Parts: sequence; C-alpha cells; structure tokens
Amino acid sequence: MTLFSIASRHLVRNAGKFTSCSAAASRRALATSAFPAPRLFDYETVTSNLSVADAIESVEAAFGALAKGEVDVPMPMHIGIHETASAGPGDCHIKGGYVSGTKTFTVKLACVSFYKNLEKNLPAGSGVFIVVDAVTGAPLAVFQENRFMTDLRTGAAGAVSLKYTTRPDDYLTIGFIGCGAIARNMARAAKAVRPNFRGVAYGLAGADEFAADMSGELGLDFQVARCSAELCGMSNVIFTQTPGGNTVLELNDLRPGTTIIASGSDQPTKQEIPVDVLKASKYISDLTKQTSKVGELRSALKEGVMTESDVYAELGELVNGKPGRQGDELIVVDLTGTGAQDAAIGQVAWDKLSAL
Ligand SMILES: NC(=O)c1ccc[n+]([C@@H]2O[C@H](COP(=O)([O-])OP(=O)(O)OC[C@H]3O[C@@H](n4cnc5c(N)ncnc54)[C@H](O)[C@@H]3O)[C@@H](O)[C@H]2O)c1
Repeated sequence: MTLFSIASRHLVRNAGKFTSCSAAASRRALATSAFPAPRLFDYETVTSNLSVADAIESVEAAFGALAKGEVDVPMPMHIGIHETASAGPGDCHIKGGYVSGTKTFTVKLACVSFYKNLEKNLPAGSGVFIVVDAVTGAPLAVFQENRFMTDLRTGAAGAVSLKYTTRPDDYLTIGFIGCGAIARNMARAAKAVRPNFRGVAYGLAGADEFAADMSGELGLDFQVARCSAELCGMSNVIFTQTPGGNTVLELNDLRPGTTIIASGSDQPTKQEIPVDVLKASKYISDLTKQTSKVGELRSALKEGVMTESDVYAELGELVNGKPGRQGDELIVVDLTGTGAQDAAIGQVAWDKLSAL
C-alpha cells in the first residue's frame, strides 16, 4: 500500500464525519443569527414615553406575586471600580428578576458614584435595563434609562403603599421629607392613586422649588414647612426620601393615624425613621429579607426593639387581601426596592415602547 492510497482511504473514511460536523456548525450559526439584534431605546425616548402612572398596575401585581413566592429575585451583584490612573472610582450594581408567568425578565445595570465624571461635566451615574424574552431567552431590548426607570418603579411602590394604607375617602395632607428625584416620583405616584390631596414639603435644600414645580405639574396646593415637626403636625401621610444619614422625624410630632412611607434607606448605613416610631407602628416591609439588612427594620433589629415576628406584613400581602389601614394606627411602610419592581417596569417599558 502506497502512502498516497493510505491518505486517500483516511480522507474517504472521515469525509462523512467532516460533512456532519460542518452541518451542525452551520445549524448552530443559523440558530444564533436567527435572533434579531436587541432594540436600543435611548434616554430621550425612554423619558418621553414612560411615566409613574404607567408602572403602578404592573408593580402592584409584581408585589402580589412576590408575596406568594412567585418572583425569582437573585442577590444583587456588585462590581467595584477602584480608582487608578486609568479608571474609577465607581460602582456597578447588577440586579434582576422574573415574575412567574410574565413574558419577559429583566437585568438592570446601574453605574453610580463615578465622581470624576463631574470634572468632565458628566453625571456620576448611568444605567441600562436589558429586557429578555422569557420564552426564547433572547434579549429584546436595551433601555438607556440612567436611573429614570428605577425612579418610576420606586414611585410606583409608593403609590401601592399609599393605596393600601389610607382610606379612599379620607382627605390627605401628604408631607414630603427630602425633596429630590424620588420625592417628585412619589408626588406623581400619590396623584395617580389619590387625585386630591394637599402637599407639604420639607428638605435641607430644594423644598421651595419642589413645591412650586409639583404644584404646577399636578395642579394641587403645595406648601413649604419650616421644619420636620411642622410638616408632621400638618400631615396624615409622610413620604421620606432622604439619603438616610440622619433620622428625619420624631414620634411626638406625629398625628394619630399617620402613614409613613420611607424609601431613603437602601443600604446598611442608612436610617431615616427612629426605632421608637418603628416599634410603635404597624410595620410593613417591601421584602422583609431585604429591609432587615438594608431598610429601616435593620436599625430596629440591631437595637433589639423589634424582631422579624413584629413585621405585620409584606406589601404584597396587602395586595393579596390582608387588611391595610384598619383604624387610627400608625403605619410605617419600609421600601428598599425589589427586583420584582425592576422586572415589572421592564415589562411595561417593552410593552409600551416596542409598539412605537
Ligand atoms: N427604596 C428605593 O427603592 C430607592 C430607589 C432609589 C433611590 N433610593 C434612595 O432614596 C434616597 C433619595 O434619593 P434621591 O435621588 O431623591 O436623592 P436627592 O439627592 O435627589 O434628594 C435628597 C433630598 O433629601 C434632602 N435631605 C437630605 N438630608 C435631609 C434631612 N436630614 N432632612 C431633610 N431633608 C434632607 C436633600 O436636601 C434633598 O432634597 C437615597 O438614599 C437613595 O439611595 C431608594
């Protein structure tokens, strides 16, 4: 047998294998290229087409599902960008969630504290939501939202809290302690579920501007309080949304039957509500396993004035039928922000913007 004939027989013997390998490769190529590229929605498109009111119904349903254990919310991931000559400082937070039975799931990437951007006249934060088809697993869209969608889903949680902890017929005077970006979304959210209320604003900065802007936008009366005690004396609902370095109100200043909706604390270093207020309240969490670590509940547990058995309910349990306001009890709702809300606003954004 010549060297040539051995080589020919080897080629003939392997020809079939070669053919089937290349067919598999081309099938793989076909399958992966069959997915269209995700659509990109820029910041302008996102902000001009979505509002807090769009998110409320979906966020409410997501809380209901969360309380039934029907939402997959993995632990958030954090990438620290340490400051070097070529990068940082900054932090990247990755969160996500899937509400069982819905058509999409969401992964959110939020970049914050890139403080050197400010020297270049750029914001310190940015972010995208990636919405994925829950049938095929293929990414459908990237929303450049730069925290806008997070603010909407936070406001929507405020709306759901307000809906279940106040009576529809009560005339509400709603105080806002902290008058930044979240406060504006809480005011819009409040208007969506309780259209007629009087607003009162107090903040270390920005209260006058907030009151004027919200009054103009919502067509409601807004006043500015000189201090937290004055605001508490006027309000039967109080939204707190400060960066959470110091407590912002006192038990003695609260009126009977007040609802406090606290959203400033979302890190283990923060606390807005004194522990005696928490202890005196019917306490409701968005997600107890989270509020016990990064919400107001964390401080009460640490100081030994509450245990997790003192939690009256998670917000989704109220959505699912557990009574909210029953008399003139003090209620505190502790909102730390959940992946269920991110999944809900991702679905809303896809439904609304993909139809444009
Ligand atoms: N729970 C959630 O889901 C969620 C989501 C997003 C942001 N947050 C948190 O909400 C907080 C507010 O965020 P933001 O973007 O509105 O901030 P922001 O900086 O836009 O506004 C903060 C406001 O609080 C005021 N303030 C600060 N300390 C105060 C004090 N001791 N008393 C009264 N007013 C005070 C400031 O003057 C300002 O008006 C932050 O802690 C943020 O991390 C929570």
